[in-house]
Amino acid sequence: MKSKLFITLAGLIMFSLLSLWAGKQQAFAQVPPDILLEDTKPQPPVTFSHKSHATEKKIQCPDCHMNPKLFEMKKGAAKGKMKMAALNKGESCGSCHNGTKAFATKEAKDCAKCHVKK
Ligand code: HEC
Ligand code: HEC
Ligand code: HEC
Repeated sequence: MKSKLFITLAGLIMFSLLSLWAGKQQAFAQVPPDILLEDTKPQPPVTFSHKSHATEKKIQCPDCHMNPKLFEMKKGAAKGKMKMAALNKGESCGSCHNGTKAFATKEAKDCAKCHVKK
């Protein structure tokens, strides 16, 4: 009797752990569409592309969303925090766009790589 209960419980626990794991995998399996960042006046807006970062440059989801947690997995979560002053100090996009890992945010010649006129 006791062992039957134990097996049922163990099965339930296994099942919930598996579902949790599958949920995480699924969250990381879908590459979201482009995100338009528009608090850029007087510069033209910036388009952040998951396709070019995650798919083409093969940057892993956790590199931006877990350790370190540069960005929430929620569009608009960083609203008001992505200022050039912060980027130029190496925060947010600036943790890579610093002239070492990727083109910098401080060079006049590179502004238009992010701020693209439509
Ligand atoms: C180079 C950094 C970077 C990488 C790599 C990256 N993301 Fe993102 N992700 C962002 C940014 C920036 C945002 C927007 C955050 C904000 O607006 O505050 C975002 C937002 C999201 C959102 C919310 C989208 C919405 O419409 O609300 C999801 C979901 C997401 N990312 C999933 C992923 C997955 C899955 C991967 C891997 C395939 C991934 N991200 C890789 C930077 C990244
Ligand atoms: C790596 C991409 C990137 C580069 C390169 C870049 N910016 Fe930005 N810029 C952003 C993002 C992201 C925002 C914030 C958008 C938002 O929050 O909606 C922003 C915002 C701005 C703003 C709005 C006010 C502020 O202080 O944030 C100005 C002005 C601006 N950028 C000017 C520039 C100039 C000038 C350059 C070149 C010297 C430059 N940017 C280079 C990504 C970039
Ligand atoms: C984890 C590192 C990383 C972060 C964080 C990151 N980038 Fe990038 N990004 C790259 C690399 C690498 C490239 C390839 C270009 C290069 O080698 O200079 C790139 C290329 C780009 C390009 C040119 C290709 C394209 O998509 O059109 C844009 C624009 C850009 N990034 C914008 C952003 C913005 C805006 C943010 C912040 C919301 C951001 N990046 C955050 C690493 C990063």
